[in-house]
Amino acid sequence: MPDILITENMGGRWLDELKAKYSVVVEPTLWKTPNKIKAALPSCRALIVRNQTKVNADLLSAADKLEVIGRAGAGLDNIELPAATAKGITVVSTPDQNSISVAELTLAMMLSLARKVGPANQHTHGGGWDRPKFMGIELYGKNFGVIGLGRIGLLTALRARALGMNILAFDTYISPDAVAVSETHAKLMDLNSLLAQSDFVSCHMPLTPDTRNFFNYERFSKMKPTAYFFNLARGEVVDENGLLQALKENKIAGAGLDVREQEPPTSTPFAGMENVILTPHIAAMTKEAQERVIAAVCQDVAAVLGGGAAKNFVNFPKPKRP
Ligand code: MLT
Repeated sequence: MPDILITENMGGRWLDELKAKYSVVVEPTLWKTPNKIKAALPSCRALIVRNQTKVNADLLSAADKLEVIGRAGAGLDNIELPAATAKGITVVSTPDQNSISVAELTLAMMLSLARKVGPANQHTHGGGWDRPKFMGIELYGKNFGVIGLGRIGLLTALRARALGMNILAFDTYISPDAVAVSETHAKLMDLNSLLAQSDFVSCHMPLTPDTRNFFNYERFSKMKPTAYFFNLARGEVVDENGLLQALKENKIAGAGLDVREQEPPTSTPFAGMENVILTPHIAAMTKEAQERVIAAVCQDVAAVLGGGAAKNFVNFPKPKRP
């Protein structure tokens, strides 16, 4: 029976270091069968997951020896934190490690939609050469509305600013004298003003009960008909039916979605829409980000199992097991 169970895809030298000390089982598709995870859990001292494993109270009821849950990524919406905390299990995550990659993919999507890169590429591969068909717009001088000026929002806004965009921001947790505001020269404003003034709107909020379905038809209808919307945060923050209706009625010009209400999606409502870019939750999937994410989570798991304190803990640095 393993000391460390890993229920999603993971590898690399930092994992090899854990393997040298502990018995580690990596089963990349185990997240699909929670009953199998539950059956394996009683012997485990550590559980490492990405975003697909639902670590809930039911699963944790089998966690008799678990000392640490490692979330290889930033979002914590798949971890039932109160249940882990109640059992005295330390939860660690890797909040800063993939932010640059997410910011870069956001910019890639913005540039790609503004310049119709996807359809133009398909057209030219097919032997076409219709230049007027692919008239685009510049990002320079446009208003970039950032919803959530946290780590990823800030890095995205800084990059947008380097392209000459004006930064508008909505964030109920940030004060006007915060560094993120001065560094990006952001104009903090209420949500409706941001939606009405932005040419590009990007969502960088975590999924919480308050943010579920935050972007609905009504909110999309408040945007400019020429504006683009991007979600590289969590799919459930957007009501996909509302977005689809807004796109079909030309309430907005297009969208870029890296995340979906259901992952993998069970339907393809946006299929074939040239003004919608879809990617399969790959914002953090770069060599550099993954190296950092895996290093951080493995180092914290090693620290806890070795009796030390975790650096990136979410609840407490050491387990509080009886
Ligand atoms: C994150 O939350 O870090 C990213 O969405 C990637 C992931 O969930 O693994």
